[in-house]
Amino acid sequence: MGGVRKWRVFVVLLFSVVLVGRVRGIGVNWGTQATHPLPPSTVVKLLKDNGIQKVKLFDADSNTLDALKKSGIQVMVGIPNDMLSSLANSVEAAEKWVSKNVSAHVSSGGVDIRYVAVGNEPFLSTYNGSFESTTLPALQNIQSALIKSGLANHVKVTVPLNADVYQSSSEKPSDGDFRPDIHDLMLQIVKFLSDNGAPFAVNIYPFISLYKDANFPVDYAFFNGYQSGINDNGKVYDNVFDANHDTLVWALQKNGFGNLPIIVGEIGWPTDGDKNANLQYAQRFNQGFMSRYVSGKGTPMRPGPVDAYLFSLIDEDDKSIQPGNFERHWGLFYFDGQPKYQLSFGSSRNGLVGASGVHYLAKKWCVLKPSANLNDEQVAPSVAYACENADCTSLGYGTSCGNLDTRGNISYAFNSYYQVNDQLDSACKFPGLSIVTDKDPSVGDCKFRIMIQTDSAHPHATLGSYSYTMLLLLFFFFTVL
Ligand SMILES: *[C@@H]1O[C@H](CO)[C@@H](O)[C@H](O)[C@H]1NC(C)=O
Ligand SMILES: *[C@@H]1O[C@H](CO)[C@@H](O)[C@H](O)[C@H]1NC(C)=O
Ligand SMILES: *[C@@H]1O[C@H](CO)[C@@H](O)[C@H](O)[C@H]1NC(C)=O
Repeated sequence: MGGVRKWRVFVVLLFSVVLVGRVRGIGVNWGTQATHPLPPSTVVKLLKDNGIQKVKLFDADSNTLDALKKSGIQVMVGIPNDMLSSLANSVEAAEKWVSKNVSAHVSSGGVDIRYVAVGNEPFLSTYNGSFESTTLPALQNIQSALIKSGLANHVKVTVPLNADVYQSSSEKPSDGDFRPDIHDLMLQIVKFLSDNGAPFAVNIYPFISLYKDANFPVDYAFFNGYQSGINDNGKVYDNVFDANHDTLVWALQKNGFGNLPIIVGEIGWPTDGDKNANLQYAQRFNQGFMSRYVSGKGTPMRPGPVDAYLFSLIDEDDKSIQPGNFERHWGLFYFDGQPKYQLSFGSSRNGLVGASGVHYLAKKWCVLKPSANLNDEQVAPSVAYACENADCTSLGYGTSCGNLDTRGNISYAFNSYYQVNDQLDSACKFPGLSIVTDKDPSVGDCKFRIMIQTDSAHPHATLGSYSYTMLLLLFFFFTVL
């Protein structure tokens, strides 16, 4: 008896190791819509230092891919939506894209590209259907190009879709199906993915559920603490991620594709820009997700390991805030690669490791002059200008700098503009209102940040060498004469 039981335990253990082993560690999304992005080599080191083995990109930037060379990190490259139409209309364009942005890196550079993401959430309702006719043909052309290049067995196509391509008529996942207006299109895409051994990629955002619905039960957005689970034919849902994911599983199953692999292309929680976007909630959500991820538990309809990419690696201060002010704060790391909170990826290491070798600008801030009059008619247009051209998403109700007084607000806006413009003197010249200080104006959680140096942020260096050359020339001129 005992022997049999031991064997059974061993087999179960072995089986779980095999299952868990199939999905490599967690992936992350690496977006680069920042005014001062970290150098790709710094980011790749950051990924390695944190044991991250998979990365999802939104384009196929060659500097980024070069930095990933021989890193051992698996890569999903991306095709932006604005390229879909040209790739849909031209097999040749698709072949060029694959040749330049996949084949070249795989063969010569040793970049481990595994997926091509064709478009990014192309069926979001805010796009008004703009990409509905081009997404599938682009997908088909890219797949043909991959086949022609001989890479199709190694590199799979997919389309990262927003979770509103499917819905449920009730709160139960079992009532799930694809959105009626794109139902046929979704079936064609799903069939194409299935025929080509490619996965369905979906972005799932419990934060957005909470953001959009004031009555959404907060605990249901997380992975612990929700008491009144939803019973769906004996399967109990105590968190919206599982329910959302399984709504997709039902939609696939109902239409004959119940076994199509699913990748969670984006999942995460922002830390600023909204009352529900803060460090505590983000830590709770991401750690909750990671603990389940590591356990390989899966969802009620799809037990077993989940394949997922956290959204996102680093904050991006140049993203559109059309979705909301939180949009620039999804990073596990701040813009400078410093961790925001403790997070365990399940290895022996217990926290996140920050980026190393980051160079900051000088310890200087631009603030409102203490003598400035708040009723000055230049105040409002100056703040508006600064916020429009920099980043004021940490101001406002419930945000990290939401408790600043009016003067603090104005200073925050001025400083953001000054830093985004690399602390140029001319960027702290709000008429009679601003002054540069070397005293950090940060208060508590409200940080007045100092920007980092980037390659493009060295106008002085160029100016310097230029003047030096001029001096030499002058010297030459006078000596010769
Ligand atoms: C390769 O990808 C880059 C970055 O996304 C893009 O700008 C470029 O147009 C692509 N090359 C081709 C040949 O399509
Ligand atoms: C979608 O339609 C709305 C309302 O008609 C419009 O305001 C918006 O600019 C459109 N968006 C796109 C991406 O076409
Ligand atoms: C500070 O700025 C934010 C965002 O513009 C605004 O909502 C808030 O009311 C301002 N607070 C004060 C005290 O001026």
